[in-house]
Amino acid sequence: MRGRALNWRIDMERPNHFLDLDRIDAESLREILDYGTALKRGVFPVGGSTPLLGKTLAMIFEKPSTRTRVSFEVGMQQLGGTAVFLQGAESQLGRGETIADTARVLSRYVDVIMIRTDDPEKLEELAAYATVPVINGLTDRSHPCQLMADILTFEEHRGPIDGRVVTWVGDGNNMATSWIHAASKFNFELRLACPGEFAPSEEAMAWAKEKGARVILTTDPAEAVAGSDCVVTDTWVSMGDSDGDLRRKRLAPYQVNEALMARAQKDALFMHCLPAHRGEEVTEAVIDGPCSVVWDEAENRLHAQKGVLTWCLMG
Ligand code: CP
Ligand code: NVA
Repeated sequence: MRGRALNWRIDMERPNHFLDLDRIDAESLREILDYGTALKRGVFPVGGSTPLLGKTLAMIFEKPSTRTRVSFEVGMQQLGGTAVFLQGAESQLGRGETIADTARVLSRYVDVIMIRTDDPEKLEELAAYATVPVINGLTDRSHPCQLMADILTFEEHRGPIDGRVVTWVGDGNNMATSWIHAASKFNFELRLACPGEFAPSEEAMAWAKEKGARVILTTDPAEAVAGSDCVVTDTWVSMGDSDGDLRRKRLAPYQVNEALMARAQKDALFMHCLPAHRGEEVTEAVIDGPCSVVWDEAENRLHAQKGVLTWCLMG
């Protein structure tokens, strides 16, 4: 899963899938953010005030969700469309129907499919067999929709992220991989402070190196955070992780607290994709304090995803 090479065929005729940031060119990602920003301001860049009128999104969830589910459903409604929710285990997927067959069938009913699943290969299989766009709503490998909201949030508060310094502190998980991809696509410096045991995916680090991205890995959070414009963390125990006790022990020195934030720039932002665990990866003083923009970040899931949906269906 994390770091595994993906070998699905690439079909040049395929729809505008939103699978991962490393597979979409920087201009398209910027276009998506521009759509999202315009829509947030009540400006409709394409297709009038109901650009997705008559369009339907199928949302497949094989893992829990609050933000992703609600923001996609509300986003579709606001663009004039509708959304259908499928709980993986309660659909025929839970009884062994293949992803490929599910993709073929759903493509006959709906205009776009979003999936949240564990194995990134399932996302690839869905995209390979769907004839409509497929959106990655999180896998164990990455969480690109969250990153679009995160970049939007940083830029709303601090202007262009190009040339700025973001530091990731904690588990080198799916969010860390998407931050690595984003550093290259949006041209900022990314420092990652992670314990060796929970380092980010070697595949993502190698990709960043090949792209010439400024991505630096260390085990020292104090050193990494020094002078940063933004400090980001995430839960120490992601959905599906079964080694919670070990993770809490190893990641304890990586808590984002006031002492750590004091090493960043005076006006540094704190970001977290949520859900958060106060007293573990972040203290209450930081997440509920003045440098935290986590509620704007959560709200921006809606706006950024309206940009993603617009790009997938009209871009
Ligand atoms: N950040 C995020 O994806 O939240 P949910 O798990 O609630 O969707
Ligand atoms: N890393 C977390 C992100 C949740 C939005 C997880 O995968 O559980």
